Amino acid sequence: MTALTLDRVGKDFATQDGCVSVLQDLTLAVESGELLTLLGPSGCGKTTTLRLIAGLLDPTAGDVRFDGRSVLPVPAEKRGAVMVFQQHLLFPFMSVADNVAFGLKMRGVPRAERRRRVAEVLELVRLPGFGDRWPDELSGGQRQRVALARALVVEPRLLLLDEPLSNLDAELREEMRAEIVRLQQRAGTTTIFVTHDQTEAVTVADRIALMLDGRILQVGVPRDFYETPATPRVAQFFGTTNIFAARKRGDVIDVNWGSLVVGESPLPDGPVLATIRPEAIQFGRNGANTLSARVTAWNYRGDSARCVAVAGDTQLEISAPPYVSHQPGETITIHLPRERIWLMPAAGG
Ligand SMILES: Nc1ncnc2c1ncn2[C@@H]1O[C@H](COP(=O)(O)OP(=O)(O)OP(=O)(O)O)[C@@H](O)[C@H]1O
Ligand SMILES: [Mg+2]
Repeated sequence: MTALTLDRVGKDFATQDGCVSVLQDLTLAVESGELLTLLGPSGCGKTTTLRLIAGLLDPTAGDVRFDGRSVLPVPAEKRGAVMVFQQHLLFPFMSVADNVAFGLKMRGVPRAERRRRVAEVLELVRLPGFGDRWPDELSGGQRQRVALARALVVEPRLLLLDEPLSNLDAELREEMRAEIVRLQQRAGTTTIFVTHDQTEAVTVADRIALMLDGRILQVGVPRDFYETPATPRVAQFFGTTNIFAARKRGDVIDVNWGSLVVGESPLPDGPVLATIRPEAIQFGRNGANTLSARVTAWNYRGDSARCVAVAGDTQLEISAPPYVSHQPGETITIHLPRERIWLMPAAGG
């Protein structure tokens, strides 16, 4: 098992319009045996990061270390980091067994041992006996599992999965997520799982690194991103628009419709940004932080409803049970639990 460190990595590309900086000051530590998801929107630099780790690209600045040792002088084929791509997963002109054995053959592993290890790994991905099939005789999910088998069979130090499930339908994707977590736990390979899907990141990972515009904004367990986002952009990426300007004095914040009692915060008194999850806001009266708001929209979503209401000139989104309904124009009473209000620096992000 291998620990990975990215130390202030930068990457510039030369293009026709000059030089573009794709990664800036990227620092990240992945523990030995850990499954980390690298989450971020399209174009933020996820694939570039994986390619730098695998040795398919050289960084412009900074260092990449495996177990504390720089791998920059080590060529890709000697690094032991294997990347699984989203497309072009398998060689169509080779049987499943030959596809899986390919990496072993390249490494000069003798035939008998190749056969044994291929059988073993096909067992691991729950495709025993599929060795003689052709890739076009497999379902999408089976092909994904063969691609994983092909990566795992060489016993890589690092497994780099680049949006490995994005071409599968929702049901299969969920199944394969669980499968990858199981395989990762059994093999214990340090793994980075790239995705742009927040739900996928939350269900797969021990920890998430959130990347925007070539920078890592926050690293933590899934819950951190919902409850204690580092900046408003992090909060927004995780689906809340409830971010409002406030002025902190002790355990109270003043907002444009009055004051709210908040929990302890390490931030100094003065201007802050406050946030609360839509699902944390409660309907009805409940002591401090109870207020009136005017409903401006009510959308039924099947398993819940989304209510938009205005207090002062602040718009609040509230996740409601689907069984009640409030009409736009109605005044409602809501409660913002103090322990659910999170404060962020006013100048942050
Ligand atoms: N060889 C290159 N030359 C110039 N620009 C590049 C090159 N490779 C990538 N880029 C740019 O770097 C940025 C990051 O690309 P990257 O492929 O890492 O994004 P990504 O996060 O993987 O996106 P997606 O989710 O769409 O796959 C993009 O703006 C892309 O256009
Ligand atoms: Mg990509």
